[in-house]
Amino acid sequence: MKKIEAFIRHEAFEEIRDRLAHMGLPSMSISEVKGSGRQQGYTESYRGAKTTIFLRPKLKLEIVVDDSDVERTVDTILEYAHTGEPGDGKIFILNVEDAIRVRTGERGAIVLAPHPEGSAAGS
Ligand SMILES: Nc1ncnc2c1ncn2[C@@H]1O[C@H](COP(=O)(O)OP(=O)(O)OP(=O)(O)O)[C@@H](O)[C@H]1O
Ligand SMILES: [Mg+2]
Repeated sequence: MKKIEAFIRHEAFEEIRDRLAHMGLPSMSISEVKGSGRQQGYTESYRGAKTTIFLRPKLKLEIVVDDSDVERTVDTILEYAHTGEPGDGKIFILNVEDAIRVRTGERGAIVLAPHPEGSAAGS
């Protein structure tokens, strides 16, 4: 199992979520973060006072998938997050030791399979 951590622009999210759900990969966590890449800060002025902004808002996606789903997940993120402009984001891929479904105690990659009823409830 791998965890894909992607820092992307907010605008790309809906299409990524939609596409992954259609591919049978609906499970993810997202959070709003602030970050900086390799660029230096840029200067803004507010009522005459200049401030340098180093941090920009990004969306962080955390998606744990079976090894066999890594490439198509990454490809989907790239497809919608890429504009070619600086700040498109970054994707990190981490090893995941184990996964446990709290309700059943099941462990391992089985925990990542979509819900059998495809139910929207209790997500
Ligand atoms: N090495 C890193 N560690 C953790 N988070 C990072 C790292 N690099 C980038 N990020 C996160 O990704 C976001 C987007 O980074 P960004 O796309 O600006 O990367 P970049 O390397 O500067 O590439 P680009 O030249 O395309 O802007 C950052 O705001 C930050 O939240
Ligand atoms: Mg950057």
